[in-house]
Amino acid sequence: MTATRHVPVMLDRCLHLLAPALAEPGAVVVDCTLGLGGHSEALLSTFPAARLVALDRDKEALRLSGERLAPYGDRATLVHAVYDELPDVLDRLGIPRVQGVLFDLGVSSMQLDEAERGFAYAQDAPLDMRMDQSAGMSAAEVLNTYAPGELVRILRAYGEEKQAKRIVSAIVRERAVEPFTNSARLVELIRDALPQAAKRTGGNPAKRTFQALRIEVNGELSSVEAAIPAAVGALAVGGRIAVLAYHSLEDRLVKQVFAAGAANTAPPGLPVVPEQYQPRLRLLTRGAELPTETEIAENRRAAPARLRGAERIREAVR
Ligand SMILES: C[S@@+](CC[C@H](N)C(=O)[O-])C[C@H]1O[C@@H](n2cnc3c(N)ncnc32)[C@H](O)[C@@H]1O
Repeated sequence: MTATRHVPVMLDRCLHLLAPALAEPGAVVVDCTLGLGGHSEALLSTFPAARLVALDRDKEALRLSGERLAPYGDRATLVHAVYDELPDVLDRLGIPRVQGVLFDLGVSSMQLDEAERGFAYAQDAPLDMRMDQSAGMSAAEVLNTYAPGELVRILRAYGEEKQAKRIVSAIVRERAVEPFTNSARLVELIRDALPQAAKRTGGNPAKRTFQALRIEVNGELSSVEAAIPAAVGALAVGGRIAVLAYHSLEDRLVKQVFAAGAANTAPPGLPVVPEQYQPRLRLLTRGAELPTETEIAENRRAAPARLRGAERIREAVR
């Protein structure tokens, strides 16, 4: 396993969005999703005056990118943490404010490619799906123990699966016979449970259920929901944040936080907008930016990416 297999997504655009904030000596940039260190390495080499703090919940990712970033010495500080712990991490490091933050949400190529981690529906593997294998419930435990209504909610909300009830009925029937341990049995069950018409659209019929389980196992949406406002709160005035999301649920959360920060919250009709109602953020992207056709042709995992950026323009006034 080398640390170079994950091709960093929309790399030039991320660097460009963060650049104006990272030129000054002493600038701190946080990569909240270190992964295999592709974006982090580019940040360190492009902005020689900046110091990097990088987080990941996956210890294997930290080990591999630690080797990759070793040449940068103490300019890089790698921390095993969930990204919504960012304020505590910065506190422990004695860093009050940062100039840049990057989130590259979702699963890394390493996690997808290592069959035994159980993220991929295309290979038979234990149904694990935990990004941090030292904590929390596996996908198999979720499938075997959650109430049927809860499973339906998860498949609908996190997988946007229209056939959630049908799939969950089949799961509940099967798990009473024998608990789930491996992905192949779940994939086969989903294929058998779906009507012909539903199987003809949208690629592998197990895709949405796997996405939903992964989001539930890793608490992904609640983590993002807490982490983006915390990251905006950690930015110094003039600091910039860039977020890459890979499905509409995540992207919607990012959009909401940025839009709320960029809004003027004054009651209508005020002739002059007092400071406390003025926006804290300036949007750097119009809507979400997408990867180019050329990038997608070279790296198909970039296809669903949605990039948004914002700049902190004002302190919060109490
Ligand atoms: C898409 S990968 C990042 C790839 C990286 N930008 C690169 O170029 O190599 C996402 C990484 O975020 C990590 N991750 C996902 N959710 C996390 C969370 N809540 N807290 C910390 N890390 C998380 C995953 O373990 C994974 O390694």
